[in-house]
Amino acid sequence: MRILVTGGAGYIGSHTCVELLDRGHEVVTIDNYSNASPESLVRVQEIAGKQLRAYEGDVRDRALLSKIFEEQKIDWVIHFAGLKAVGESCAKPILYYDNNIGGTLALVETMQKYGCRKLVFSSSATVYGNPEKLPLTEECKTGGTTNPYGTSKLFQERILSDLYEAEKDWTIVLLRYFNPVGAHESGRIGEDPQGIPNNLMPYIAKVAVGALKEIGIFGNDYPTPDGTGVRDYIHVVDLAKGHVCAIEKLKDSGVFVYNLGTGVGYSVLDVVHAFEKACGKTLPYVIKSRRAGDIAACYADASKAKRELGWEAKLGIDEMCASLWKWQSMNPKGYQK
Ligand code: NAD
Ligand code: UFG
Repeated sequence: MRILVTGGAGYIGSHTCVELLDRGHEVVTIDNYSNASPESLVRVQEIAGKQLRAYEGDVRDRALLSKIFEEQKIDWVIHFAGLKAVGESCAKPILYYDNNIGGTLALVETMQKYGCRKLVFSSSATVYGNPEKLPLTEECKTGGTTNPYGTSKLFQERILSDLYEAEKDWTIVLLRYFNPVGAHESGRIGEDPQGIPNNLMPYIAKVAVGALKEIGIFGNDYPTPDGTGVRDYIHVVDLAKGHVCAIEKLKDSGVFVYNLGTGVGYSVLDVVHAFEKACGKTLPYVIKSRRAGDIAACYADASKAKRELGWEAKLGIDEMCASLWKWQSMNPKGYQK
């Protein structure tokens, strides 16, 4: 099949492009490189030993989208393009709503115009807000998001579900990612955050490589086994494969919602110690106060994806840390040469 991957040069997008090419699909990307480097796509093609077609531009640019759909017969769209920094979304809510929701609207309008009605959307466990129970199943209530980024995901899920209610020939897949981490085993592609990372794993990796002094742990007084926050970390390669399973498996129309996680929760201290094992160093950390908007614990019941898509996460915390360490040490400045 020919797949349009929006945000294909980004962290999860680039890993998904590799998996798609490996499975024999044709890949077309659109990315404005606002949070990525075109170099990632050069490396994707090198890893896969196959070519893809990359368009540079914004998903809100309807003329460019139309050009792509005219030039390419697209079977499925996997929509990663979006802004994702929680803190920045609080400071710049309009930018986030415009980019994320505006991008989705332009995309589905163009898909309507060209008769392509199969879409995978990157959603997030953040739509569950403060979990009503753990592990989280897809039936758990959504809402109560604490920042515009999370709210934009919630709204986009709603917009896509409303679209299906009106036009029942769409296949819409809402994939709720838990915490994607790690990198491709080659060490050639990985997450390349600009400036100081907001997320735990990339922050730890920068401390390990000597670019940052110490890890700050945001709170050790949560009601968790060691008092630090618990999350369901999922290897980005497993996550990428989840997208391939979705497009290959789902043939009917409908709205399909899946949690993509491992079902296992690790605390911040568990992650620090797992990373110490991977890099062979002791990593300095200090306990800080809680970060606003954080929840104590969040992990998935991912059994629906296993039952319906035949997908389950295979890689554990050690592989996540080892692959991130390989990427970080081989590319201390990310994609910057
Ligand atoms: P990323 O920033 O690495 O990738 C997003 C890509 O989209 C980037 O390459 C960026 O340049 C591009 N982009 C952004 N706005 C665009 C626009 N208007 N037009 C064209 N391209 C645009 O992020 P990621 O971690 O790969 O995340 C991919 C998707 O998954 C995002 O929608 C994100 O919200 C979602 N998600 C990520 C996480 C996570 O922790 N990484 C968790 C849950 C959901
Ligand atoms: N943490 C620290 N120190 C840091 C960074 C994080 O102690 O420097 C802690 C947090 O308090 C939390 C855990 O590490 O307990 C994980 O934090 P991350 O920032 O790595 O991830 P979050 O769970 O906060 O959020 C991530 C993505 C969101 C997404 C959410 C659910 O950043 O976009 O997972 O998918 F919505």
